[in-house]
Amino acid sequence: MPTLATTVDGLKLPNPFIIGSGPPGTNLNVIAKAFKEGWGAVIAKTISLDASKVVNVTPRYAKLFGDDGKEVIGWENIELISDRPFKIWLDEFKRCKDMFPDGVLIASIMEEYRKDAWVEIVERCQEAGVDGLECNFSCPHGLPERQMGSAMGQDCEVLEEVCRWVMGAARIPVWAKMTPNITRIEDPSRAALRAGCNGISAINTIRCVMGINLDTLRPEPTVEGMSTPGGYSSKAVRPIALRMVMEIATMMEKEFPARSLSGIGGIETGGDAAQFILVGAGTVQVCTGVMKFGYECIKPLREELLAFMEKHGFDTVADFRGKSLSYFTTHHDLVQRQAGRKAAREASGRKAGGADGEWSGDDFVRQSDALSRD
Ligand SMILES: Cc1cc2nc3c(=O)[nH]c(=O)nc-3n(C[C@H](O)[C@H](O)[C@H](O)COP(=O)(O)O)c2cc1C
Repeated sequence: MPTLATTVDGLKLPNPFIIGSGPPGTNLNVIAKAFKEGWGAVIAKTISLDASKVVNVTPRYAKLFGDDGKEVIGWENIELISDRPFKIWLDEFKRCKDMFPDGVLIASIMEEYRKDAWVEIVERCQEAGVDGLECNFSCPHGLPERQMGSAMGQDCEVLEEVCRWVMGAARIPVWAKMTPNITRIEDPSRAALRAGCNGISAINTIRCVMGINLDTLRPEPTVEGMSTPGGYSSKAVRPIALRMVMEIATMMEKEFPARSLSGIGGIETGGDAAQFILVGAGTVQVCTGVMKFGYECIKPLREELLAFMEKHGFDTVADFRGKSLSYFTTHHDLVQRQAGRKAAREASGRKAGGADGEWSGDDFVRQSDALSRD
């Protein structure tokens, strides 16, 4: 019988499903709900020392629907980090640990580019009893004006320096959460790991414009007639997140094999989670999925992942972590591997297919479709 229980950076999780930082971890009420429903760990909504600088707007979400007009496939938010006072958060962290001593509670922290601020937020959160820290180097909107969030995560030198400050003060595991709004996500990941962070979380949201309303001609979400680019999440970002987690894991396998990796982005099923684990994640985080389906979705998530493990004879998450990484190669290598088969096909009188000269305008849709098959 397979088990979902897993130990990451010394933290004992009953399963690898973690509440990702955001609305599903925005106060003690909802964090308690998550533990009661059986989530493996909770990462609280990102906090900073001075919440009075955080001012949210409404509406701050916009959705992309599938063809049925009902299924949400993409979700934009222009939400900032928590607007709740730091003192209240510290109190809630303590109460949460009293209520759920075995629950793994991780504080998500974000500060300005000042050593004293980072050291203070690390020390006060760990004094409150949290089990780990996730540094948010990835919030794409609002706070970059204060050099926070993704502005920090896009500058490897600054990121490494801040991570060294954090690691100088931390006595509990620290994960660095990466922004996908960068060309090579391995570079900031490497900088954080070089500074001693225990693990990487990826990805945060992808900068986007959800759409333009064709009646009002205004971008959405529309606030007082105006908008600003936001962060994209949910199902639609999963292939991009999977690629980035694969790239980070490939780098980590070679350079930091003992560190941890938490995969995030559009995870809604146990099968989605399995895919992130297959490309190197040891845990997976869910944020928008909980906003779409509720905390109860942990039950099918666990069942589907267990069914996948049973089907393949994997006893633990570690048994299949990173198992698909060796199936990625260069495009050049794919050409070489296929050359022999193409030649054999042509020798037997059949066309190999796929050459640019073979496209015809009349048969375009069928030809496009055919190229997704062998
Ligand atoms: C409404 C909303 C608020 C979020 N707030 C935070 C936050 O405070 N800190 C953070 O690190 N990530 C935040 N995120 C990003 C998520 O944790 C996650 O990285 C991203 O949404 C992709 O995963 P998902 O598709 O499961 O939501 C937020 C996401 C959403 C949708």
